Amino acid sequence: MNKLIMALGVGVALAFFTLTSHADDYSEQALKDADMIAGEQTWQQYCAFCHTAGEGQADISGPNLHQLFKRQVGTKPGFAYSDALKKESRNWTPELFAAYVQDPGAVIPGNIMPAVNIPADKVLPLTAYVLRSSGSVDWDQAKTATLATGGLDAELQSSSPEFWALYMNNTVKFTIPYEDSSYSFVAYFNDDGTITGNNRGLTGIWRMRDKRHFCFAIQRIGVHPYEWMHCVRPKVDANMVFGEVAEVITPVKGFDDFKVDVTFIEDRFHPLEGDAHPDYWTFLFNNTMRYEIKVNGEVVIVSARFSPDNTIDSAEGISGKWRTEGENGEKDRMCYNFSGVPGVDGDLSECFALVLMFNPRVGARWPARFSQGNTYWAEVFEGRE
Ligand code: HEC
Repeated sequence: MNKLIMALGVGVALAFFTLTSHADDYSEQALKDADMIAGEQTWQQYCAFCHTAGEGQADISGPNLHQLFKRQVGTKPGFAYSDALKKESRNWTPELFAAYVQDPGAVIPGNIMPAVNIPADKVLPLTAYVLRSSGSVDWDQAKTATLATGGLDAELQSSSPEFWALYMNNTVKFTIPYEDSSYSFVAYFNDDGTITGNNRGLTGIWRMRDKRHFCFAIQRIGVHPYEWMHCVRPKVDANMVFGEVAEVITPVKGFDDFKVDVTFIEDRFHPLEGDAHPDYWTFLFNNTMRYEIKVNGEVVIVSARFSPDNTIDSAEGISGKWRTEGENGEKDRMCYNFSGVPGVDGDLSECFALVLMFNPRVGARWPARFSQGNTYWAEVFEGRE
């Protein structure tokens, strides 16, 4: 469980006051009659940032709540609960749920879910909504979902069409400080409320917090801090230029020196070579990959230059070709071959996962092996002769 996103979650949840809890009636009838729209809105506004409820959906910073009311507290397989939840032996009931969401720390001391302060009159509708949407009851079909993101988000498309198009049709590149340089990755905001990216495993969600806040949480970023959350006003800055830093955000409260550059890149580029770092290709085409290849106990140097037209040449006269490939049109591997390496019969070739091309940098040096068995060291040299 990442403390950072939880701390951020506290900031994101609307800080209204919790009224003392109503002596609500949690009978089946009361739950069946509860206002499902209010329930769904409450869920979207206060819970969906951290939880999913559908079958097979991912844990976010909180566990997936599928069939919550059919199980004991703290038992969603694979989720790293606090000791407090792990030790708890009660089963989830509507009453326990209602009490917990209003004051998690008091109901299960030591739990790590922050208090989210939902209005007291929304607790019953929320409970009814989660009962249904988590598939814990089969009373009727839950209100059919609009876009997976629900009410406020569905409006965004018509209320802020430019903003919608900017995020849904283009690529958002984030650059964060990393060691003494920087690290970039790109994210695609999808119209079903999810965020995916060029780095395998990157996930996220976006939601409207209210009509004026477009919020997103990104997780499983390749480097620390691995996740964060941020909200912006849903409008497009008139000075925004594709390819240039549009905004600098400081998404982590209390870490004002942790600045993230946000750059919009027109279109969804490299949909095929999706796993590589967004700058990988420019990098590859402008620098030299110097190979020290073991051939019959000797080292042969190949200073390879990869070009956009899929060819490779080298200062030593070696030539080759490269291509990307992968299943289902997802070209997530790069393959290449060298022809004419002295002492080698035929070609040397290999394929590697583009996800490895994450932080291309001059000076990077790594050992590997061609399919033919020859080992090599490769090193990146700046520029081309
Ligand atoms: C900032 C993130 C965050 C928000 C917002 C949040 N939760 Fe949680 N929730 C968690 C975490 C983390 C846990 C696990 C707590 C632990 O292990 O102590 C959790 C646990 C739970 C559990 C126990 C699940 C189980 O498997 O036993 C329930 C139920 C729950 N949350 C419901 C809600 C509801 C309903 C809302 C909205 C009112 C909400 N949560 C909002 C992070 C969040």
